[in-house]
Amino acid sequence: RRPDPHVIVLFGATGDLARRKLLPGLFHLAVAGLMPEHYRVVGSAPAAEALGDEEFRAHARDAIGEFSRLEPRGEAWDAFEKTLGFGAADPEDPQPLLDAVRAAEQALGGRPRRLFHLAVPPAAFASVVGLLGDTGLARNARVIVEKPFGTDLPSAQALNATLHAVFDESEVFRIDHFLGKESVDNILALRFANGLFEPIWNRDHISHVQIDVPEEIGIEGRSRFFEGTGTFRDMVVTHLFQLMGFVAMEPPTTLEAHALRDEKEKVYQSLRPLDPAHVVRGQYTGYRDEPGVDPHSDTETFVALRAELDNWRWSGVPFFLRSGKSLAQGRHLVTLGFREPVLRMFPLDAHRGSDLRGNGLVIDFDDPGGITARFLTKEPGPAMRLENAEMVFHYAGSYNEEHALEGYERLILDAMLGDQSLFTRSDGIERLWEVATPLLREPPPVEPYAPGSWGPDRIRQLIAPYRWSLPDPH
Ligand code: BG6
Repeated sequence: RRPDPHVIVLFGATGDLARRKLLPGLFHLAVAGLMPEHYRVVGSAPAAEALGDEEFRAHARDAIGEFSRLEPRGEAWDAFEKTLGFGAADPEDPQPLLDAVRAAEQALGGRPRRLFHLAVPPAAFASVVGLLGDTGLARNARVIVEKPFGTDLPSAQALNATLHAVFDESEVFRIDHFLGKESVDNILALRFANGLFEPIWNRDHISHVQIDVPEEIGIEGRSRFFEGTGTFRDMVVTHLFQLMGFVAMEPPTTLEAHALRDEKEKVYQSLRPLDPAHVVRGQYTGYRDEPGVDPHSDTETFVALRAELDNWRWSGVPFFLRSGKSLAQGRHLVTLGFREPVLRMFPLDAHRGSDLRGNGLVIDFDDPGGITARFLTKEPGPAMRLENAEMVFHYAGSYNEEHALEGYERLILDAMLGDQSLFTRSDGIERLWEVATPLLREPPPVEPYAPGSWGPDRIRQLIAPYRWSLPDPH
């Protein structure tokens, strides 16, 4: 199904996100034949950064040339380029934007839908939403909102109030690009399309869950953003808790957005407020010397924590979440650790101490990702000795990936189609900030870790008696 005719307005069109992800993403959708049959893209930015239509096209071509997996040339590019225009927008002078949107709508004819993508810094957010309300542009429109959705509960509530003054919740698409990754959808397929996994997806069989997103990259020149944000707000409240929602949810009654989101929000309702005693905040050595970083900075570049769900399915099963910058590897893993068999019938030496990592199911949601079941087998030979074994499924090579979309692309398409399944809802995001409040009030001090390591030493104590499934011993 192709989306209805659309005018897409990209606020923050000259910014970093538009260059790296959004303009390339729109171009990929166009090449894949997934854009509406008739559409226009209007770039927008404050008057001080205004571009002419031609300049915006050149800007988009450069961005796509640098960041896209496709080259901006040939027929596909020529057709895409023609859809691009620019209209500056300042709260005092929205006229250039209004003119550009009107011109785009006239070119399309009829009543195309409007989709506003707010890729703007939080400080600019209220004024852009106000402008959309005051000018009437918000009518017949949907809005994509970029993270961060606030920095604590009061700011998230204020942000939601600003949005709801102009848009109905059904028109709001809070985007979290992790939820556009293929393997996130695949958690649903794995759990609910098979008879194999769901029966053991609970406290009776699972001892603990790990949601592990270490990053190899540092802060990459984003010190201004990062100093005021830190890893907990940048990664955990948005990406990691979102994944947790899909891993932990009850089977929804249908795959419709409202049913899925109801179940995800119920997970957050049962999430216990975070206990600072079960949080490790880390900072890589050298962070304080980065340009733009306060030499006494207490901002965390790493966080690992234990979360608990007070519900029937997960009671007593800790969820360990970890993410950080400048770590040993960049990975995206969800690991379910299975309980030990009730009876140890194998001789102790068969287990060979701690080399054996036991049973687990590892969902790797790197692009393209895969799924690994880990278990123990008997080593060939006369003695009963156990050895680690794996059954592995890789996306790469299993499918024709010609149709694969990146997170942002998938989600922009869903927003055009009006499908909110993979977007966060206001009540969910507010609940997550509520749960975070004890940690935000009394954050434990940051602990140093060496760049290239897996984080501060205390993360081993945090997860004991279990072990992090990374680094993989094999
Ligand atoms: C972004 C964060 O939302 O996600 C970045 O702001 C982080 O700090 C990035 O690096 C990670 O995304 P991915 O898809 O590269 O894992």
